[in-house]
Amino acid sequence: MSGHNVWTHKGTFLLAAVGSAVGLGNLWRFPYLTGENGGGAFILIYALTIFAVGIPILIAETMLGRTSRQSPIMGMRHLTKTHKTSRAWESIGWLGAASAFLILSFYSVIAGWALHYTWLMLTGSLVGADAATISAGFDALLASPGLMTLYHTLFIAFSALIVGMGIHKGIESGLRIMMPALFVILIVVLIYGVINGDVRAAASFLFTFNIADLSLEGWLQAMGQSFFTLSLGMGAIMAYGAYMSSEASLTRTAIAVAFVDTAVAMVAGLAIFSLVFGAGLETGQGPGLMFVTLPLAFADMPFGALVGGVFFILVLGAAVSSSISLIEPVAAFLVERFDMTRPQAVTIMVVAAWAMGLLTVVSFNVWAEGTISHALFGRSAFEFIELLTNIFMPLGGLLIALFAGWALTQSEVMKELGTNITWFKTWRFLVRFVGPAAVSFVFLRTIPQVEGYVIPSLGALLIVGAFALSQRLRKST
Ligand code: TRP
Repeated sequence: MSGHNVWTHKGTFLLAAVGSAVGLGNLWRFPYLTGENGGGAFILIYALTIFAVGIPILIAETMLGRTSRQSPIMGMRHLTKTHKTSRAWESIGWLGAASAFLILSFYSVIAGWALHYTWLMLTGSLVGADAATISAGFDALLASPGLMTLYHTLFIAFSALIVGMGIHKGIESGLRIMMPALFVILIVVLIYGVINGDVRAAASFLFTFNIADLSLEGWLQAMGQSFFTLSLGMGAIMAYGAYMSSEASLTRTAIAVAFVDTAVAMVAGLAIFSLVFGAGLETGQGPGLMFVTLPLAFADMPFGALVGGVFFILVLGAAVSSSISLIEPVAAFLVERFDMTRPQAVTIMVVAAWAMGLLTVVSFNVWAEGTISHALFGRSAFEFIELLTNIFMPLGGLLIALFAGWALTQSEVMKELGTNITWFKTWRFLVRFVGPAAVSFVFLRTIPQVEGYVIPSLGALLIVGAFALSQRLRKST
Protein backbone atom coordinates (compact mmCIF):
# COMPACT_ATOMS: atom_id res chain seq x y z
CA MET A 1 0.00 0.00 0.00
CA SER A 2 1.53 3.25 -0.97
CA GLY A 3 0.88 6.24 1.20
CA HIS A 4 0.99 4.09 4.30
CA ASN A 5 2.73 5.68 7.24
CA VAL A 6 6.45 5.05 7.47
CA TRP A 7 8.79 5.99 10.31
CA THR A 8 10.57 9.28 9.80
CA HIS A 9 14.04 7.74 9.79
CA LYS A 10 15.56 4.56 8.48
CA GLY A 11 16.71 3.70 11.99
CA THR A 12 13.45 4.41 13.83
CA PHE A 13 12.22 0.83 13.56
CA LEU A 14 15.31 -0.26 15.47
CA LEU A 15 14.59 2.29 18.17
CA ALA A 16 10.95 1.27 18.37
CA ALA A 17 11.68 -2.47 18.38
CA VAL A 18 14.29 -2.04 21.10
CA GLY A 19 11.77 0.03 23.05
CA SER A 20 9.26 -2.78 22.73
CA ALA A 21 11.75 -5.52 23.55
CA VAL A 22 13.41 -3.87 26.55
CA GLY A 23 10.93 -3.88 29.38
CA LEU A 24 9.84 -5.61 32.53
CA GLY A 25 11.05 -8.79 30.85
CA ASN A 26 14.64 -7.59 31.03
CA LEU A 27 14.65 -5.74 34.32
CA TRP A 28 12.24 -7.77 36.39
CA ARG A 29 11.63 -11.19 34.84
CA PHE A 30 15.07 -12.06 33.47
CA PRO A 31 16.96 -11.44 36.73
CA TYR A 32 14.51 -13.35 38.88
CA LEU A 33 14.27 -16.29 36.48
CA THR A 34 18.07 -16.43 36.30
CA GLY A 35 18.19 -16.24 40.08
CA GLU A 36 15.74 -19.09 40.47
CA ASN A 37 17.35 -21.27 37.84
CA GLY A 38 20.95 -21.30 38.89
CA GLY A 39 22.53 -18.47 36.88
CA GLY A 40 24.92 -19.21 34.00
CA ALA A 41 23.35 -22.37 32.63
CA PHE A 42 20.04 -20.57 32.29
CA ILE A 43 21.72 -17.72 30.43
CA LEU A 44 23.44 -20.11 28.06
CA ILE A 45 20.17 -21.70 26.93
CA TYR A 46 18.55 -18.29 26.76
CA ALA A 47 21.31 -16.93 24.52
CA LEU A 48 21.28 -19.98 22.24
CA THR A 49 17.53 -19.69 21.77
CA ILE A 50 17.78 -15.98 21.02
CA PHE A 51 20.23 -16.78 18.27
CA ALA A 52 18.81 -19.86 16.64
CA VAL A 53 15.12 -19.11 17.07
CA GLY A 54 14.55 -15.57 18.30
CA ILE A 55 16.42 -13.72 15.57
CA PRO A 56 14.98 -15.73 12.64
CA ILE A 57 11.41 -15.31 13.94
CA LEU A 58 12.06 -11.64 14.62
CA ILE A 59 13.06 -11.30 10.98
CA ALA A 60 9.98 -13.25 9.91
CA GLU A 61 7.59 -11.14 11.94
CA THR A 62 9.09 -7.86 10.79
CA MET A 63 8.98 -9.11 7.22
CA LEU A 64 5.25 -9.93 7.42
CA GLY A 65 4.64 -6.41 8.67
CA ARG A 66 6.79 -4.71 6.07
CA THR A 67 5.50 -6.63 3.06
CA SER A 68 1.87 -6.09 4.00
CA ARG A 69 2.28 -2.52 5.30
CA GLN A 70 -0.85 -2.89 7.43
CA SER A 71 -1.80 -3.72 10.99
CA PRO A 72 -1.32 -7.41 11.87
CA ILE A 73 -4.93 -8.49 11.33
CA MET A 74 -5.49 -6.61 8.07
CA GLY A 75 -1.95 -7.40 6.99
CA MET A 76 -2.43 -11.13 7.39
CA ARG A 77 -5.79 -10.92 5.62
CA HIS A 78 -4.01 -9.24 2.75
CA LEU A 79 -1.20 -11.80 2.67
CA THR A 80 -3.55 -14.78 2.73
CA LYS A 81 -5.24 -13.33 -0.36
CA THR A 82 -2.11 -12.50 -2.29
CA HIS A 83 -0.60 -15.89 -1.48
CA LYS A 84 -3.79 -17.88 -1.99
CA THR A 85 -3.42 -19.57 1.36
CA SER A 86 -6.11 -20.47 3.81
CA ARG A 87 -7.88 -17.57 5.52
CA ALA A 88 -7.04 -19.38 8.76
CA TRP A 89 -3.59 -17.79 8.72
CA GLU A 90 -5.34 -14.58 9.61
CA SER A 91 -5.43 -16.09 13.09
CA ILE A 92 -1.85 -14.81 13.42
CA GLY A 93 -3.30 -11.31 13.56
CA TRP A 94 -6.17 -12.21 15.86
CA LEU A 95 -3.99 -14.19 18.25
CA GLY A 96 -1.62 -11.25 18.31
CA ALA A 97 -4.38 -8.79 19.09
CA ALA A 98 -5.73 -11.02 21.85
CA SER A 99 -2.27 -11.49 23.38
CA ALA A 100 -1.46 -7.80 23.19
CA PHE A 101 -4.70 -7.00 24.95
CA LEU A 102 -4.17 -9.62 27.67
CA ILE A 103 -0.52 -8.75 28.25
CA LEU A 104 -1.25 -5.05 28.41
CA SER A 105 -3.87 -5.70 31.08
CA PHE A 106 -1.43 -7.20 33.57
CA TYR A 107 1.73 -5.48 32.36
CA SER A 108 0.21 -2.17 33.36
CA VAL A 109 -0.66 -3.42 36.85
CA ILE A 110 2.89 -4.66 37.48
CA ALA A 111 4.42 -1.50 36.03
CA GLY A 112 2.14 0.33 38.45
CA TRP A 113 4.04 -1.30 41.33
CA ALA A 114 7.18 0.40 40.00
CA LEU A 115 5.34 3.70 40.24
CA HIS A 116 4.69 2.97 43.91
CA TYR A 117 8.35 2.16 44.50
CA THR A 118 9.59 5.21 42.63
CA TRP A 119 7.54 7.25 45.05
CA LEU A 120 8.67 5.33 48.15
CA MET A 121 12.33 5.59 47.13
CA LEU A 122 12.38 9.26 46.22
CA THR A 123 10.56 10.26 49.39
CA GLY A 124 13.15 8.31 51.39
CA SER A 125 10.44 6.22 53.06
CA LEU A 126 12.53 3.05 52.94
CA VAL A 127 15.86 4.42 54.16
CA GLY A 128 17.25 2.10 56.81
CA ALA A 129 14.20 -0.16 56.75
CA ASP A 130 14.70 -3.82 57.67
CA ALA A 131 13.64 -6.91 55.72
CA ALA A 132 10.43 -7.44 57.64
CA THR A 133 9.28 -3.86 57.09
CA ILE A 134 10.02 -3.90 53.38
CA SER A 135 8.34 -7.19 52.72
CA ALA A 136 5.34 -6.14 54.81
CA GLY A 137 5.20 -2.99 52.68
CA PHE A 138 5.03 -5.01 49.48
CA ASP A 139 2.31 -7.22 50.96
CA ALA A 140 0.40 -4.11 51.96
CA LEU A 141 0.57 -2.80 48.39
CA LEU A 142 -0.73 -6.10 47.05
CA ALA A 143 -3.50 -6.08 49.64
CA SER A 144 -4.77 -2.69 48.48
CA PRO A 145 -6.97 -2.85 45.37
CA GLY A 146 -7.53 0.91 45.51
CA LEU A 147 -3.87 1.82 45.43
CA MET A 148 -3.06 -0.73 42.75
CA THR A 149 -5.93 0.49 40.59
CA LEU A 150 -4.71 4.06 40.95
CA TYR A 151 -1.20 3.19 39.73
CA HIS A 152 -2.55 0.92 36.99
CA THR A 153 -4.75 3.77 35.76
CA LEU A 154 -1.93 6.32 35.76
CA PHE A 155 0.42 4.02 33.92
CA ILE A 156 -1.99 2.92 31.20
CA ALA A 157 -3.30 6.45 30.69
CA PHE A 158 0.21 7.75 30.13
CA SER A 159 0.95 5.02 27.57
CA ALA A 160 -2.37 5.73 25.85
CA LEU A 161 -1.51 9.40 25.59
CA ILE A 162 1.71 8.65 23.71
CA VAL A 163 0.08 6.26 21.24
CA GLY A 164 -2.90 8.57 20.84
CA MET A 165 -0.60 11.32 19.59
CA GLY A 166 0.29 9.20 16.57
CA ILE A 167 3.29 7.24 15.41
CA HIS A 168 5.39 10.32 14.65
CA LYS A 169 4.50 12.91 17.27
CA GLY A 170 3.73 10.35 19.96
CA ILE A 171 5.66 7.11 19.58
CA GLU A 172 8.74 8.33 17.70
CA SER A 173 9.25 11.50 19.69
CA GLY A 174 8.54 9.74 22.97
CA LEU A 175 11.05 7.00 22.23
CA ARG A 176 13.66 9.43 21.05
CA ILE A 177 13.64 11.04 24.48
CA MET A 178 13.03 7.97 26.61
CA MET A 179 15.42 5.42 25.18
CA PRO A 180 18.69 7.36 25.53
CA ALA A 181 17.67 8.38 29.04
CA LEU A 182 17.06 4.74 29.92
CA PHE A 183 20.51 3.70 28.77
CA VAL A 184 22.14 6.44 30.78
CA ILE A 185 20.23 5.41 33.92
CA LEU A 186 21.12 1.77 33.37
CA ILE A 187 24.81 2.61 33.22
CA VAL A 188 24.55 4.80 36.32
CA VAL A 189 22.88 1.97 38.23
CA LEU A 190 25.55 -0.46 37.05
CA ILE A 191 28.34 1.84 38.21
CA TYR A 192 26.57 2.30 41.51
CA GLY A 193 26.25 -1.47 41.85
CA VAL A 194 29.93 -1.99 41.09
CA ILE A 195 30.94 0.60 43.71
CA ASN A 196 28.52 -0.38 46.45
CA GLY A 197 27.84 -4.01 45.73
CA ASP A 198 29.70 -7.21 44.95
CA VAL A 199 30.14 -7.31 41.19
CA ARG A 200 32.51 -10.29 41.35
CA ALA A 201 29.93 -12.43 43.03
CA ALA A 202 27.34 -11.21 40.55
CA ALA A 203 29.52 -11.97 37.54
CA SER A 204 30.47 -15.40 38.74
CA PHE A 205 26.82 -16.14 39.46
CA LEU A 206 25.70 -15.01 36.00
CA PHE A 207 28.54 -16.38 33.91
CA THR A 208 29.51 -19.67 35.49
CA PHE A 209 28.06 -22.32 33.24
CA ASN A 210 27.15 -25.47 35.05
CA ILE A 211 24.61 -27.25 32.94
CA ALA A 212 23.75 -29.56 35.84
CA ASP A 213 22.18 -26.56 37.56
CA LEU A 214 19.47 -26.49 34.99
CA SER A 215 16.25 -28.45 35.33
CA LEU A 216 14.05 -29.23 32.35
CA GLU A 217 11.66 -26.63 33.68
CA GLY A 218 14.48 -24.08 33.79
CA TRP A 219 15.39 -24.99 30.24
CA LEU A 220 11.85 -24.40 29.03
CA GLN A 221 11.61 -21.16 30.96
CA ALA A 222 14.82 -19.92 29.36
CA MET A 223 13.35 -20.54 25.92
CA GLY A 224 10.03 -18.97 26.86
CA GLN A 225 11.85 -15.94 28.21
CA SER A 226 13.71 -15.45 24.95
CA PHE A 227 10.40 -15.09 23.07
CA PHE A 228 8.87 -12.87 25.69
CA THR A 229 11.84 -10.56 25.86
CA LEU A 230 11.95 -10.02 22.10
CA SER A 231 8.20 -9.25 22.09
CA LEU A 232 7.71 -12.03 19.55
CA GLY A 233 4.57 -13.71 18.35
CA MET A 234 1.94 -11.12 19.15
CA GLY A 235 1.88 -8.62 16.36
CA ALA A 236 3.72 -5.81 18.12
CA ILE A 237 6.81 -6.24 15.99
CA MET A 238 4.66 -6.80 12.91
CA ALA A 239 2.82 -3.53 13.54
CA TYR A 240 6.09 -1.64 13.89
CA GLY A 241 7.49 -3.49 10.88
CA ALA A 242 4.63 -2.11 8.79
CA TYR A 243 6.15 1.34 9.25
CA MET A 244 9.74 0.22 8.60
CA SER A 245 11.69 1.84 5.81
CA SER A 246 12.18 -0.46 2.82
CA GLU A 247 15.83 0.50 2.84
CA ALA A 248 16.66 -0.75 6.31
CA SER A 249 18.23 -4.20 6.50
CA LEU A 250 16.00 -6.77 8.16
CA THR A 251 18.81 -9.04 9.20
CA ARG A 252 21.09 -6.40 10.61
CA THR A 253 18.22 -4.72 12.42
CA ALA A 254 17.02 -7.97 13.99
CA ILE A 255 20.52 -8.82 15.17
CA ALA A 256 20.90 -5.35 16.64
CA VAL A 257 17.56 -5.61 18.48
CA ALA A 258 18.47 -8.99 19.92
CA PHE A 259 21.93 -7.80 20.87
CA VAL A 260 20.79 -4.64 22.64
CA ASP A 261 17.95 -6.45 24.36
CA THR A 262 20.29 -9.16 25.64
CA ALA A 263 22.91 -6.62 26.69
CA VAL A 264 20.32 -4.72 28.70
CA ALA A 265 19.19 -7.90 30.44
CA MET A 266 22.81 -8.80 31.28
CA VAL A 267 23.71 -5.33 32.53
CA ALA A 268 20.52 -5.18 34.59
CA GLY A 269 21.26 -8.63 35.97
CA LEU A 270 24.81 -7.63 36.80
CA ALA A 271 23.71 -4.44 38.54
CA ILE A 272 20.87 -6.07 40.45
CA PHE A 273 22.86 -9.08 41.62
CA SER A 274 25.82 -6.90 42.61
CA LEU A 275 23.51 -5.04 44.94
CA VAL A 276 21.82 -8.21 46.15
CA PHE A 277 25.10 -10.01 46.88
CA GLY A 278 26.65 -6.86 48.30
CA ALA A 279 23.85 -6.67 50.83
CA GLY A 280 24.20 -10.37 51.60
CA LEU A 281 20.71 -11.23 50.32
CA GLU A 282 19.22 -14.25 48.56
CA THR A 283 18.99 -14.50 44.74
CA GLY A 284 16.12 -16.94 44.43
CA GLN A 285 13.32 -14.69 45.59
CA GLY A 286 11.17 -15.00 42.49
CA PRO A 287 8.98 -12.08 41.40
CA GLY A 288 9.75 -10.30 44.69
CA LEU A 289 13.40 -9.87 43.67
CA MET A 290 12.82 -6.40 42.31
CA PHE A 291 10.17 -5.21 44.73
CA VAL A 292 11.47 -6.65 48.00
CA THR A 293 15.09 -7.75 47.76
CA LEU A 294 16.30 -4.79 45.74
CA PRO A 295 14.67 -2.05 47.84
CA LEU A 296 16.19 -3.79 50.85
CA ALA A 297 19.64 -3.62 49.25
CA PHE A 298 19.15 0.08 48.50
CA ALA A 299 17.88 0.79 52.02
CA ASP A 300 21.33 0.59 53.59
CA MET A 301 23.47 2.03 50.84
CA PRO A 302 24.76 5.57 50.44
CA PHE A 303 22.36 7.58 48.25
CA GLY A 304 20.30 4.40 48.07
CA ALA A 305 17.02 6.29 48.08
CA LEU A 306 18.03 8.48 45.17
CA VAL A 307 19.61 5.77 43.04
CA GLY A 308 16.79 3.40 43.93
CA GLY A 309 14.28 6.02 42.81
CA VAL A 310 16.12 6.54 39.56
CA PHE A 311 16.25 2.77 39.07
CA PHE A 312 12.48 2.51 39.35
CA ILE A 313 12.11 5.36 36.89
CA LEU A 314 14.16 3.21 34.53
CA VAL A 315 11.76 0.34 35.10
CA LEU A 316 8.81 2.63 34.40
CA GLY A 317 10.29 4.06 31.22
CA ALA A 318 11.17 0.62 29.89
CA ALA A 319 7.64 -0.54 30.67
CA VAL A 320 6.05 2.45 28.92
CA SER A 321 8.11 1.93 25.77
CA SER A 322 6.89 -1.68 25.74
CA SER A 323 3.29 -1.01 26.55
CA ILE A 324 2.92 1.47 23.70
CA SER A 325 3.86 -1.35 21.33
CA LEU A 326 1.07 -3.44 22.85
CA ILE A 327 -1.48 -0.72 22.14
CA GLU A 328 -0.33 0.05 18.60
CA PRO A 329 -1.32 -3.16 16.74
CA VAL A 330 -4.89 -3.12 18.02
CA ALA A 331 -5.29 0.64 17.65
CA ALA A 332 -3.95 0.52 14.08
CA PHE A 333 -6.41 -2.26 13.29
CA LEU A 334 -9.38 -0.29 14.58
CA VAL A 335 -8.28 2.72 12.54
CA GLU A 336 -7.86 0.71 9.33
CA ARG A 337 -10.89 -1.48 9.67
CA PHE A 338 -13.48 0.86 11.12
CA ASP A 339 -12.15 4.22 9.99
CA MET A 340 -11.87 5.44 13.54
CA THR A 341 -9.67 8.32 14.51
CA ARG A 342 -6.52 7.31 16.32
CA PRO A 343 -7.63 8.76 19.69
CA GLN A 344 -10.91 6.83 19.44
CA ALA A 345 -9.14 3.60 18.61
CA VAL A 346 -6.58 4.00 21.39
CA THR A 347 -9.31 4.82 23.88
CA ILE A 348 -11.26 1.68 23.05
CA MET A 349 -8.23 -0.58 23.32
CA VAL A 350 -6.95 0.99 26.50
CA VAL A 351 -10.25 1.22 28.34
CA ALA A 352 -10.90 -2.45 27.59
CA ALA A 353 -7.41 -3.48 28.72
CA TRP A 354 -7.75 -1.28 31.78
CA ALA A 355 -10.98 -3.01 32.77
CA MET A 356 -9.41 -6.40 32.15
CA GLY A 357 -6.50 -5.30 34.34
CA LEU A 358 -8.87 -4.96 37.28
CA LEU A 359 -9.04 -8.75 37.28
CA THR A 360 -5.28 -8.79 37.88
CA VAL A 361 -5.63 -6.19 40.60
CA VAL A 362 -8.17 -8.20 42.57
CA SER A 363 -6.24 -11.43 42.03
CA PHE A 364 -3.81 -10.29 44.70
CA ASN A 365 -6.42 -9.45 47.29
CA VAL A 366 -10.20 -9.61 47.10
CA TRP A 367 -10.30 -12.56 44.73
CA ALA A 368 -7.05 -14.18 45.77
CA GLU A 369 -8.99 -17.27 46.74
CA GLY A 370 -12.50 -18.48 46.27
CA THR A 371 -14.96 -19.36 43.60
CA ILE A 372 -13.15 -17.74 40.71
CA SER A 373 -9.98 -19.67 41.30
CA HIS A 374 -11.96 -22.90 41.59
CA ALA A 375 -13.49 -22.27 38.21
CA LEU A 376 -10.00 -21.63 36.81
CA PHE A 377 -8.45 -24.83 38.17
CA GLY A 378 -7.02 -23.26 41.29
CA ARG A 379 -5.52 -20.26 39.59
CA SER A 380 -6.11 -16.61 40.26
CA ALA A 381 -7.47 -14.59 37.36
CA PHE A 382 -3.99 -13.08 36.94
CA GLU A 383 -2.32 -16.47 36.75
CA PHE A 384 -4.93 -17.60 34.28
CA ILE A 385 -4.42 -14.57 32.02
CA GLU A 386 -0.68 -15.07 32.19
CA LEU A 387 -1.12 -18.72 31.30
CA LEU A 388 -3.24 -17.77 28.29
CA THR A 389 -0.55 -15.42 27.04
CA ASN A 390 2.05 -18.13 27.63
CA ILE A 391 0.04 -20.24 25.21
CA PHE A 392 -0.81 -17.57 22.64
CA MET A 393 2.68 -16.16 22.42
CA PRO A 394 4.53 -19.30 21.32
CA LEU A 395 1.56 -20.28 19.18
CA GLY A 396 1.73 -16.93 17.42
CA GLY A 397 5.48 -17.31 16.97
CA LEU A 398 5.00 -20.79 15.56
CA LEU A 399 2.40 -19.67 13.02
CA ILE A 400 4.53 -16.68 12.01
CA ALA A 401 7.55 -18.91 11.44
CA LEU A 402 5.50 -21.39 9.42
CA PHE A 403 3.78 -18.76 7.31
CA ALA A 404 6.96 -16.85 6.56
CA GLY A 405 8.88 -20.08 5.99
CA TRP A 406 6.39 -21.92 3.79
CA ALA A 407 3.92 -19.47 2.27
CA LEU A 408 6.15 -16.58 1.20
CA THR A 409 7.90 -17.14 -2.09
CA GLN A 410 11.64 -17.25 -2.48
CA SER A 411 11.74 -14.15 -4.65
CA GLU A 412 9.80 -11.94 -2.28
CA VAL A 413 11.79 -13.13 0.71
CA MET A 414 15.02 -12.53 -1.17
CA LYS A 415 13.81 -9.05 -1.99
CA GLU A 416 12.96 -8.32 1.63
CA LEU A 417 16.11 -9.84 3.04
CA GLY A 418 18.27 -8.28 0.39
CA THR A 419 21.08 -10.75 0.97
CA ASN A 420 22.69 -13.71 -0.68
CA ILE A 421 21.21 -17.12 -1.23
CA THR A 422 23.23 -18.75 1.55
CA TRP A 423 21.74 -16.58 4.24
CA PHE A 424 18.31 -16.96 2.67
CA LYS A 425 18.63 -20.75 2.86
CA THR A 426 19.91 -20.66 6.42
CA TRP A 427 17.13 -18.35 7.50
CA ARG A 428 14.48 -20.43 5.77
CA PHE A 429 15.75 -23.61 7.33
CA LEU A 430 15.63 -21.96 10.75
CA VAL A 431 12.06 -20.69 10.39
CA ARG A 432 10.79 -23.80 8.65
CA PHE A 433 12.16 -26.37 11.05
CA VAL A 434 14.26 -25.19 13.97
CA GLY A 435 11.90 -22.44 15.11
CA PRO A 436 8.71 -24.50 14.97
CA ALA A 437 10.40 -27.41 16.73
CA ALA A 438 11.76 -25.21 19.50
CA VAL A 439 8.49 -23.37 19.92
CA SER A 440 6.50 -26.58 20.13
CA PHE A 441 8.92 -27.71 22.79
CA VAL A 442 8.28 -24.55 24.82
CA PHE A 443 4.62 -24.97 24.18
CA LEU A 444 4.66 -28.42 25.74
CA ARG A 445 5.70 -26.80 28.99
CA THR A 446 2.27 -25.29 29.36
CA ILE A 447 0.54 -28.62 28.91
CA PRO A 448 1.01 -29.91 32.46
CA GLN A 449 -0.33 -26.55 33.61
CA VAL A 450 -3.50 -26.78 31.63
CA GLU A 451 -4.98 -30.01 32.97
CA GLY A 452 -8.34 -29.90 31.22
CA TYR A 453 -6.92 -28.35 28.09
CA VAL A 454 -4.44 -31.03 27.11
CA ILE A 455 -6.58 -32.48 24.36
CA PRO A 456 -7.49 -29.11 22.77
CA SER A 457 -3.86 -28.02 22.81
CA LEU A 458 -2.69 -31.21 21.18
CA GLY A 459 -5.47 -30.73 18.68
CA ALA A 460 -4.24 -27.24 17.94
CA LEU A 461 -0.71 -28.53 17.39
CA LEU A 462 -2.02 -31.13 14.99
CA ILE A 463 -3.98 -28.57 13.01
CA VAL A 464 -0.89 -26.44 12.73
CA GLY A 465 1.09 -29.41 11.51
CA ALA A 466 -1.56 -30.13 8.93
CA PHE A 467 -1.37 -26.56 7.68
CA ALA A 468 2.35 -26.78 7.25
CA LEU A 469 1.93 -29.96 5.30
CA SER A 470 -0.77 -28.55 3.05
CA GLN A 471 1.44 -25.56 2.32
CA ARG A 472 4.17 -27.86 1.34
CA LEU A 473 1.94 -29.89 -0.94
CA ARG A 474 0.56 -26.78 -2.54
CA LYS A 475 4.08 -25.62 -3.31
CA SER A 476 5.26 -28.85 -4.84
CA THR A 477 2.33 -29.12 -7.26
N1 TRP B 1 9.41 -7.69 25.59
C1 TRP B 1 8.72 -7.08 26.68
C2 TRP B 1 9.59 -7.09 27.90
O1 TRP B 1 10.65 -7.68 27.90
C3 TRP B 1 7.46 -7.80 27.05
C4 TRP B 1 6.64 -8.14 25.90
C5 TRP B 1 6.33 -9.34 25.50
C6 TRP B 1 6.07 -7.27 25.01
N2 TRP B 1 5.59 -9.29 24.39
C7 TRP B 1 5.42 -8.03 24.06
C8 TRP B 1 6.08 -5.93 24.93
C9 TRP B 1 4.79 -7.43 23.00
C10 TRP B 1 5.43 -5.33 23.88
C11 TRP B 1 4.81 -6.08 22.93
O2 TRP B 1 9.21 -6.53 28.89
